[in-house]
Amino acid sequence: MPTETVYGLAADAANANAVARLYAAKGRPRFNPLISHVASLEAANAEGELDERAAALAARFWPGPLTLVVPAVATARTCDLARAGLDTIALRVPRHRLALGLIAAFGGPLVAPSANPSGRLSPTRAEDVADAFGDSVALVLDGGPCEAGIESSIVSLLPGEPARLLRPGAIPRDRLEAITGRLAEAGTGDVSAPGQLVSHYAPRAAIRLNATDVRADEVLLGFGADAPADAPNLSRAGDTVEAAANLYRMLRELDAAGADTIAVMPIPDEGLGEAINDRLARAAAPRDGGAG
Ligand code: TXA
Ligand code: MG
Repeated sequence: MPTETVYGLAADAANANAVARLYAAKGRPRFNPLISHVASLEAANAEGELDERAAALAARFWPGPLTLVVPAVATARTCDLARAGLDTIALRVPRHRLALGLIAAFGGPLVAPSANPSGRLSPTRAEDVADAFGDSVALVLDGGPCEAGIESSIVSLLPGEPARLLRPGAIPRDRLEAITGRLAEAGTGDVSAPGQLVSHYAPRAAIRLNATDVRADEVLLGFGADAPADAPNLSRAGDTVEAAANLYRMLRELDAAGADTIAVMPIPDEGLGEAINDRLARAAAPRDGGAG
């Protein structure tokens, strides 16, 4: 299904068989828990315990590209397998018309990891999903290109802990912090945040970051007005929102064109730059043992 962030591979959150098939289709490590997508705050409250901080974030950003990690309630419909056995749950109300319609028509939560084979680039167009999964998915709902183009921001709100930014994403940090105050960082090596697997979101080509030149065996991915006119450019205007929307598609196109190495020009950490640089750093990380 399309969402406003990236396409998701959707399955009945309550059905462990469906979830197991989803893990198999994705080739995903078992310890990586999934996001349960619901259509309303009320439905979210049936799955997880949203404290005041979580409720304030939900009121401000749902429906939208924000995932909240909160304690799971005992009667949650989302099965243990989808939560990878954790006592917490990741919840989000997406903003895309087709996603909301699908969840409402189905009548229960849908887990939906990004619809890419594990470790590969997230899909931002229906054809990316069809290319990657072919006949192994029942149906691809085509909602056109994704508006944000980068995954949701993930914030954990757990008892006795500060609000933590587990994954920078489609909502810039400062907009979240306007509600929560300063966000703590994700703990390093924390299995409860396996989105932090070091090598993740990787194209086939190698990636070189903060490139200020292009070497013989490289193609350039530009950013800003100083980039050469003939290079693909994430945003000639230097706009990080536009760059996020273009990121996966451009990496995918350069990859498909057979580039050995993609040299990416520096991108400032402001706005969505933090999330873009996070994804690029993971794409650039050594791949050996990269289970993401
Ligand atoms: O934008 C998005 O969030 C997309 C669209 C399809 O909604 N979905 C997505 O799902 O990015 P996925 O599975 O690719 O990433 C979910 C992230 C993973 O990094 C996972 O570790 C984290 O959410 N997560 C899920 N449950 C968690 C939990 N209980 N505690 C900590 N992290 C959790
Ligand atoms: Mg993903």
